[in-house]
Amino acid sequence: MKVAVYSTKPYDEHFLTQANQDGHPHELVFLEPRLNAATAALANGFDAVCVFVNDQVDAPVLAQLAEGGTRAVALRCAGFNNVDLKAAERLGIDVVRVPAYSPYAVAEHTVALILTLNRQIHRAYHRIRDGNFALDGLLGFDLRGRTVGIVGTGQIGMEVVRIMRGFGCQVLCNDPRQNPEVPALGGRYVSLDELFRQADIVTLHCPLTPETHHLIDAGAVARMKTGVMLINTSRGAIVDTAAIIEGLKSGQIGYLGLDVYEEEGDLFFEDLSNIVLKDDVFARLLTFPNVVITGHQGFFTRNALENIARTTLGNLTELEARRPCANCVTASG
Ligand code: NAI
Repeated sequence: MKVAVYSTKPYDEHFLTQANQDGHPHELVFLEPRLNAATAALANGFDAVCVFVNDQVDAPVLAQLAEGGTRAVALRCAGFNNVDLKAAERLGIDVVRVPAYSPYAVAEHTVALILTLNRQIHRAYHRIRDGNFALDGLLGFDLRGRTVGIVGTGQIGMEVVRIMRGFGCQVLCNDPRQNPEVPALGGRYVSLDELFRQADIVTLHCPLTPETHHLIDAGAVARMKTGVMLINTSRGAIVDTAAIIEGLKSGQIGYLGLDVYEEEGDLFFEDLSNIVLKDDVFARLLTFPNVVITGHQGFFTRNALENIARTTLGNLTELEARRPCANCVTASG
């Protein structure tokens, strides 16, 4: 297949080229721009586009792609909230994704945020470099015995269950689809309300869907323990950022760790260090000492990138051979 690879970074080109040499016949053309209505024409004459989390794959873009002869969208990620699946189906465009590439990468990054916030590593790093060896303000807590609330116990959430049980935490979970491994690991399914009321740390691992959009709003924050630690490595819009800022200002939220942000499409994955930051909400988040933000890097391990590249090219090869497609996503689920 002739594939237009959008939002290409040097690491994408490296891993996809390597994987393609491993028995795949595809012609990969690497494009730096993000896919949107203005750039869709670059894919004219290409059989497939390969996209990432912030590419815009909505109905008008899909219509442009179909007109140009494209018949497949290969997501090099798990989440597909940026794709209009109904429009794709209508236009006869197959959508494939990488359902699992390394749940460990994201789960471990989640725990990195928890440990950083708890032990104030982000502040200690700067203090030491500044010759300030005082400990005031760096007081943490033992994770052992604390209650962690995990929203979404799919592949990533389950890894977080395992790791946090290893720390000796109580683990409460919420998921409409219960996984029997949770009780086997010593976790317990509870209502979302009970999870919010009891958890010292709430961490989000559900997908972004109409049901989970702003799942964490002002009402949810009010139901949480005072001083709760909130972690979101899933998708930005699961959290209402304005409500979170109010929660931080009142002290209801004691710690916030984000790897994703509602408006990250305008910021993440680019070097904007020479440009004035125009997003006032994001700027406000950066002012809190008890907030740590990373730029959607949860997935970013060597192992994950190798798996993403291998599965993406495998998906395209299966589509080309018209074999049953295990990693296809459809509007009907
Ligand atoms: P998964 O599909 O294995 O698990 C998601 C779980 O969430 C499922 O068990 C599902 O039943 C549950 N769920 C759905 N609606 C829910 C609700 N309303 N409340 C509670 N649980 C609900 O997905 P996986 O691989 O564990 O990934 C989770 C999310 O992590 C992805 O959807 C994606 O948004 C995000 N992600 C973030 C990355 C990063 O780099 N920060 C990388 C990969 C994924």
